Amino acid sequence: MRLSDDMIKALNEQIVMESEAASFYLYMASWCEVSGHDGASEFFYNQSDEERMHMLKIVHYINRLGTIADISTIREPPKNLTSLEEIVRTSLENEQKVTKSIHEIITLAEKERDRRTFDFMQWFVKEQIEEEDTVDRVLQKFDVIGRDKLAINEIDKYMKSLSGSGSEPA
Ligand code: FEO
Repeated sequence: MRLSDDMIKALNEQIVMESEAASFYLYMASWCEVSGHDGASEFFYNQSDEERMHMLKIVHYINRLGTIADISTIREPPKNLTSLEEIVRTSLENEQKVTKSIHEIITLAEKERDRRTFDFMQWFVKEQIEEEDTVDRVLQKFDVIGRDKLAINEIDKYMKSLSGSGSEPA
């Protein structure tokens, strides 16, 4: 089976999105590391590794179907972030964009009756639900626990508990 030109374009764009997500999370992890948020830093380093794995999954999928994946230039991460809450909010917004893009690929697969890509993308649908839920729960903590230094420290510990256990809390 060969992928349609439209599908190859959509999947290549998804590769860029996943790659950007990996790069953005790497910057967020570094920001947290330098700012003393060790738990959050570990969480974002972990997320960055996961996004690279997502990117590779799509690269292999395209390659195995006979087309060399197009590894395009990615945008620089936004470097004007100033607080842990802003970082968490930005990561949730980024994940929501990724989810939207994945749903668009699935809609294209349905339109083209491309059952193979439709099935392949289901893993990403589930992964996005988990990722959005996890980040959303972290974001809610700022309202529940607060935003002073002690509260931020608690949120940092909570984020550490999420690291190394996939997207689910420990
Ligand atoms: Fe692979 Fe969270 O986007």
